[in-house]
Amino acid sequence: MASVVQRFLTRTIISSSSLPASCRKTRMHICAVLASSHEDPLGIKNRSKSLDEHQKQQMARGLPKKRPVDGVKHVVVVASGKGGVGKSTTSVNLALGMLARKQSLRVGLLDADIYGPSIPKMMNLRGQPELTKENMMKPLVNFGVPCMSMGFLVEEGAPIVWRGLMVMSAVEKLIRQVAWGELDVLVIDMPPGTGDTQLSISQLIPISGAVIVTTPQDIALLDACRGTEMFRKVDVPVIGLIQNMSHYVCPKCEHKAYIFGRDGARGVAKEMDLELLGDVPLHTDIRETSDSGKPIVVSQPDNPQTYAYKMIAGRVLDKLSLTKDSTR
Ligand SMILES: Nc1ncnc2c1ncn2[C@@H]1O[C@H](COP(=O)(O)OP(=O)(O)O)[C@@H](O)[C@H]1O
Ligand SMILES: [Mg+2]
Repeated sequence: MASVVQRFLTRTIISSSSLPASCRKTRMHICAVLASSHEDPLGIKNRSKSLDEHQKQQMARGLPKKRPVDGVKHVVVVASGKGGVGKSTTSVNLALGMLARKQSLRVGLLDADIYGPSIPKMMNLRGQPELTKENMMKPLVNFGVPCMSMGFLVEEGAPIVWRGLMVMSAVEKLIRQVAWGELDVLVIDMPPGTGDTQLSISQLIPISGAVIVTTPQDIALLDACRGTEMFRKVDVPVIGLIQNMSHYVCPKCEHKAYIFGRDGARGVAKEMDLELLGDVPLHTDIRETSDSGKPIVVSQPDNPQTYAYKMIAGRVLDKLSLTKDSTR
């Protein structure tokens, strides 16, 4: 039971917002301990086998072989441990940022958040997908990006009351029973956490890389570490971290305020040997454009926040070895 006590204590310590920045190393150590003890919360594991070996064997048992999505060259998942840190906003603007960087690219967007789909609203799309002759769903398209979401299949605001297995099955259908056409990149907007959906997607299809979104807050960083560790355990390369809401910019005087702390993700990126792909400020323009279904990258191409997304998109494309050819 020692590990239960340890977890309780460390959680309590980490969530204390009064912890000074100088304790980051300690926090990260605790974080690593938590991540590595995750699959054995009660401390009853057979210690004779190495943790990784045992876990990999368990995960491989009975799993289908990874199979690529027809026509899709690269899958990039946008994830975080926590909800509300800006995954969906980032996914949308990352996909559109890729297009802005390289107009010849074909980029699709899949909303894998079954319980809380956001892509229909953010991409200003509604309606049911039509079916092809082969009974595949046609993605809905806006701003040049084909999209698929659970939100297209249920009434807006209707709750999805499903158990895990049904969610898994739905996710697989949203990936495979869609006529995506030829895509260079499929961006997947993940639900929060490190649960069934993340694991199933990681084990169903080859993923070129995961982008982890976090805010600079301790509590979000801790979950970002968990997310990173999960992807590493299932052999999904982590492309890097995006520090969302890095600071607040006053729209009147342009003053910068570090509401959620300063540069927390930079420290974590260093500790976890990850690249920090970029900072995105907390800015009213981002929130307003997302809410109104006119993502900032397309509606305000010269906004400084758009540049931030385009720079991040460029870095992700570099990592995928998809060269730039844009004049924009
Ligand atoms: N950089 C940002 N600046 C302003 N608002 C943001 C920013 N990123 C996200 N938001 C807003 O925060 C809320 C949560 O973002 P969302 O992308 O839905 O998070 P998640 O998908 O992680 O749950 C949304 O209202 C969104 O418009
Ligand atoms: Mg979301």
